[in-house]
Amino acid sequence: MSDKPWGGRFDAPTDAFVEAFNASTHVDARMYAEDIAGSRAHARMLTQQGILSHEDLTLILQGLDTIEADIEADNFEFTIALEDVHMNIEKRLTDNIGDAGKRLHTARSRNDQVATDTRLYLRKRTDEMCARIRQLQSVLVTLATQHADTVMPGFTHLQTAQPVTLGHHLLAYVEMLDRDHGRFADARQRMNQCPLGSAALAGTTFPIDRNMTATELGFAEPTRNSLDSVSDRDFIMELLAASSICAVHLSRFSEELILWMSAQFKFIDLPDAFCTGSSIMPQKKNPDMPELVRGKTGRIVGALMSILMTIKSLPLAYNKDMQEDKEAIFDAYDNLEGSLRVFSDMLPNMKVNVDVLYRAAASGFATATDLADMLVRAGVPFRDAHAIVGKSVAWCIEHQRELHQMPAQTCADIDARLSTDMLAQLSVEQCVAARDHVGGTAPAQVRAQCEFWTQQLEQKP
Ligand code: ARG
Repeated sequence: MSDKPWGGRFDAPTDAFVEAFNASTHVDARMYAEDIAGSRAHARMLTQQGILSHEDLTLILQGLDTIEADIEADNFEFTIALEDVHMNIEKRLTDNIGDAGKRLHTARSRNDQVATDTRLYLRKRTDEMCARIRQLQSVLVTLATQHADTVMPGFTHLQTAQPVTLGHHLLAYVEMLDRDHGRFADARQRMNQCPLGSAALAGTTFPIDRNMTATELGFAEPTRNSLDSVSDRDFIMELLAASSICAVHLSRFSEELILWMSAQFKFIDLPDAFCTGSSIMPQKKNPDMPELVRGKTGRIVGALMSILMTIKSLPLAYNKDMQEDKEAIFDAYDNLEGSLRVFSDMLPNMKVNVDVLYRAAASGFATATDLADMLVRAGVPFRDAHAIVGKSVAWCIEHQRELHQMPAQTCADIDARLSTDMLAQLSVEQCVAARDHVGGTAPAQVRAQCEFWTQQLEQKP
């Protein structure tokens, strides 16, 4: 009564709604190339081990080539009646080549098949993600080189704190992205073991060669425990954790770009090609891309929660719940890769209002710490210096002046040790140039860091 590949023990057909609800083709069809690659490796191994004949192997390999070409030519209809990518391809193979196709599933289960396909697919996508991260790092290093001397206000609590260079600010994201890259690369290495041969959960009675399939599929080695192999989704958790952290970094950057483009800041202008207007307010130019990237972060972090919750109470080994693993990570990967790409394309064409940045750095008492440091160098204890400058700032706020505009008498009234000579030396250029040590914001340091990163990015894959 059942026409399914597994229908032998069934009397009745699958409920029509259940058939659709159960199917995963809309999600896993994108792993067709990996599914076919896994089948090729499995068939070759079965033949080498004398489990499959050379004639069958030839038919299977030809049949798989045809299916792959059909899928690529959009000439292959995936049907939900066959549940997932694995059974769709196997059924078509059997329809095309007969009994040889039916022999392919010897010593294999969809459980080790899906574990293998997913690892292969995500390994490829992770390499692409890493390349996208490197690309954005390069874009940022180029921008940082151009803006090694561009002075802007640095913030803490989003209040003007001390002057920094824009190059230094941009290089902070290069550092974050490098750690992101490291997390992806690390997870990739750990996931690079081949589950194929674990079969349903316990292994198989056939004399398989798992080293052969592992090598053929580019894995470092076969997995060591069949139960773990078919039930492990740690690699998805790790990749989603890395994705979430990377997305959070882009989200913080997005928030800054959005603020910087506002009429209140006017630090930057994002290119028209990456913004949209308002249907009612003619003056509007909205920073949609950073907003959207900030928004994507929610669903990417959501995907991490989704996989953790899906797996948390599952007994060993495979459970159907696991079918839910792919949709979340595929979506997260698509959106994170898109976010990285949008940033890489958008930032080189961003207009930086260098004058506005400079004026913003020169106002808001960003040089106050440097004045206190000057007093310290003249022998004033730091806490006293802090208080003297604090009083000076209060006077300036009341009289709407900047520190360097304080009259000599006012200085003397506040403290005998405060002089207009000191005030005359206060400049934002001085402030940044003076922070000339490893990790400091001085233009010389920024240039050195840019050179370091340029070299690193040329060498690193
Ligand atoms: N579509 C399934 C998944 O994505 C493949 C494995 C199904 N195995 C099974 N015995 N039902 O997880």
